[in-house]
Amino acid sequence: MKINRAKNPDSMIDFEKKHTPFIEKVSRKIIVSVGTEIEHPMNPEHYITWIELLLNGESLGVKELDNEDPPSATFELDKEPFPSDEIKARANCNLHGTWESF
Ligand SMILES: [Fe+2]
Repeated sequence: MKINRAKNPDSMIDFEKKHTPFIEKVSRKIIVSVGTEIEHPMNPEHYITWIELLLNGESLGVKELDNEDPPSATFELDKEPFPSDEIKARANCNLHGTWESF
């Protein structure tokens, strides 16, 4: 599977902002929104089909979306992650492929 990433996180173009998952952490709750600064569209022709959360490279689950859902997903961890843990998210757009957060 090809994973897309924004070329430069500090100066993303709008297309990259729209597809790069944005992660918020509230204790054990992880909220993933797509994208970063610009919300990805959700309509029958163009939408986010799933969002996956990864902890230290291991998948913690995939939330399937349909075009009437908001482009976000909430995951509840068993315990609060350590500061050293790497939390990443991936999101799949039906037209523009799979994108990973920073
Ligand atoms: Fe897209």
